[in-house]
Amino acid sequence: MERRKIVLDVNDDIYEVEVYPNETLLEVLRDKIGFTGPKCGCDDGTCGACTVLIDGVAVKSCLTLAVEVEHKKITTIEGMAKDGKLHPLQESFIKNHAIQCGYCTPGMILSSLAAINEKKRPLTKEEAREAISGNLCRCTGYVKIVEAIVEASEKIGNKG
Ligand code: FES
Ligand code: FES
Repeated sequence: MERRKIVLDVNDDIYEVEVYPNETLLEVLRDKIGFTGPKCGCDDGTCGACTVLIDGVAVKSCLTLAVEVEHKKITTIEGMAKDGKLHPLQESFIKNHAIQCGYCTPGMILSSLAAINEKKRPLTKEEAREAISGNLCRCTGYVKIVEAIVEASEKIGNKG
């Protein structure tokens, strides 16, 4: 199998990488570019720990080939803090004690962000649960996570 040079736009920076056609976005982000925020929990689309945004939509990067997303806008958890300030969702997860081991947290936050940006208004608890329905947490039991998402969405939801 031949490697191909592709251009990826990750967190507003451009990366030229050589990839095999069957390499996943998760592998390329972590092993070739160095963004280790997206985690590998299952590698088969079950856990959501690898979730990133592609053009604003939450996508499981273990099920996405890197060659499919050339020139699309990719956002990982590393791209959320701006000017040294955490994103309101990140702050809310900390404030609400919605993190234990943290393995699921990047995926939880990016799935939530996609839902908040889509609705352009605060989320209900039900909508927050729906937003993270593809993300598994083995530690927290989800209650604090849902509270953190709803609270953050009240701050940022109406700004889109
Ligand atoms: S590692 Fe992608 S869904 Fe679990
Ligand atoms: S905080 Fe440990 S898996 Fe969610």
